[in-house]
Amino acid sequence: MSRLVVVSNRVAVPDAQSATSGGLAVALRDALRTCGGIWFGWSGKTTAQTAETPTMTEVGPVTYATLDLGRKDYNEYYNGFANRTLWPLFHYRLDLAEFSHENYTGYLRVNTLFAEKLRPLIEDDDHLWIHDYHLIPLGRELRALGLSHPMGFYLHTPFPALEVLLALPSHELLVKSLCAYDVVGFQTENDLRSFRDYIHYEAGGEILDDKSVRAYGRLVRTQVFPIGIERGQMEQAAARAVEQGAARRLERTLHNRSLMIGVDRLDYSKGIPERFRSFERFLEQYPAHRGQVSMMQIAPLSRSEVPEYKAIRDQLEGLAGYINGRYGDFDWMPLHYLTKNFQRETLAGFFRLSRVGVVTPLRDGMNLVAKEYVASQDPNYPGVLVLSRFAGAARELDAALLVNPYDHEGVAAALHQGLIMSLEERRERWQSMIEKVQSNSLENWRERFLTVLRSVPTPMAVRSTGGDTASTGSG
Ligand code: G6P
Repeated sequence: MSRLVVVSNRVAVPDAQSATSGGLAVALRDALRTCGGIWFGWSGKTTAQTAETPTMTEVGPVTYATLDLGRKDYNEYYNGFANRTLWPLFHYRLDLAEFSHENYTGYLRVNTLFAEKLRPLIEDDDHLWIHDYHLIPLGRELRALGLSHPMGFYLHTPFPALEVLLALPSHELLVKSLCAYDVVGFQTENDLRSFRDYIHYEAGGEILDDKSVRAYGRLVRTQVFPIGIERGQMEQAAARAVEQGAARRLERTLHNRSLMIGVDRLDYSKGIPERFRSFERFLEQYPAHRGQVSMMQIAPLSRSEVPEYKAIRDQLEGLAGYINGRYGDFDWMPLHYLTKNFQRETLAGFFRLSRVGVVTPLRDGMNLVAKEYVASQDPNYPGVLVLSRFAGAARELDAALLVNPYDHEGVAAALHQGLIMSLEERRERWQSMIEKVQSNSLENWRERFLTVLRSVPTPMAVRSTGGDTASTGSG
C-alpha cells in the first residue's frame, strides 16, 4: 500500500509533552502505522523565528515532521487569520470576524512555507491528506510546486452558507484552493450543500452528481464523512472511571442531587454564556429543582491570546458568579464552573454519573462530546442528551432532546424534561443514539475517506492512460 502523508496544524507526536492524543490523533496514527508515512505540521512551539528545517521524529514506520513557528507567523497565521477570521466566519459569527490584510498575508505565507518544507519529503506514490481550515491553501501551493499526487482535504468545522462566506474578501481564492484537492470531505450534508452552492452560484462551476463538482478547471470529489468515536473505548473508560477516585469524590459532593454536565473548549462557538442563561431561566421557571440539581461546566482554556477568547472568559466568570450569588445557598451551589483540563477517562466517569449532558453549541462541525456522552452511559440507567440542532452531531443523534441554543426558554424546558424523563424513554432514546455512534466509528470515518482518496488515479496511472482525471489541471 502506498504511503500516507497527513498534514494538520497540530501534530500529535507520541509522548511529546505538548501533544494531545485524542481519538482522532490515534486514528490517524493507526493509519500511518499501517501503511507508513509522514505526519507534518506545526510543533505547537513558538520561537523568535520560524524554523528553517522541520524536526524529524521517527517512531516505527511513521515520521513526524514538525516546524516551530516564529512569533510573527504564529500571530498572523494561527491567532490571526485562522482563529480571528476563518474560525468565526465558519461558525457564522460575522460579528466577531476580523478582516486584516496583514493576517491574511501571514496565513498564505505559512501555507507556502509548509508546502516548501513538505515538498522534499514526498515520494512518488504518496497520498496526501490535509486537515482543517488552517491549511486550505496548502494543496494549491503544493500543486504550484509541481505535485500531481492524489490529495484530500477534510474540513472539521462547518462550511458556511454562501451569503456568509461572501463576506470574506478572499473567498474566491479560498474556494479555488479547495478545488486544488482531489477529494474534499465535510462533516454534514449542510456543509456540502453550502460548498456546492458556492460552486454553482458564485464560481460558475458544474455540479456533476452527488459526489463531484467541476470548477476552476478541476474535477473534485466532494462528499460527507461525519466523524465518529470509538464507542468501546469510551464505554470501558466510563465503566472504569466511575468506580475510581475523581468520580467517587464527585458523587459524594452531590449528596444525591442530580448532575447536569457540559464539557467544551472555552470557545464562543460552544454557546456557554447562552447555556448559563438558559440554566438561570431553568432555575427561575422550575423552582422545584432548586437545591436538587447542580450543573457542572468544564471549559478548558483555549486560544487564550485571541482577544475574543479573553472576552468570553471574563463574561463567563461574571455570569457564573451572578447565578451562584442569586440562586446558591449555604449548602448548595447551582453552577460549578471549571477551566481545568481533565483526562478523557475522568470525563467519561463524570458523564456516566450525570443525569443530563448539555451540548448546546451555537454552531459546531460535529461535536464529539455529544457522542462521547452517549458512549459513556450505563445502558441500564442512561442519562439524557440535550443537544443543539446546530451541532453536526444532531444529524445522527436525532433521538437527543434537540434544542435551539438561542432559545433560553426552550433549553430550560429541555433540561427540565431531561430530569423528569422516565427510565423507559431514556433507554429508548439512548438505544437509538448508541446504534448510530456504534455504526459510524472513527475507524470507519478514516477508512471511508481513504478509500475515496485511494480511488483517485495516481500521476503514473494518469500518464499511462492519458486520461482526464482529478489530478490534472493547475487548480
Ligand atoms: C477544533 C479544530 C481543530 C483544532 C481544535 C483545537 O476542533 O477543528 O483543528 O485542533 O479545535 O484548537 P487549537 O486551536 O487548540 O488547535
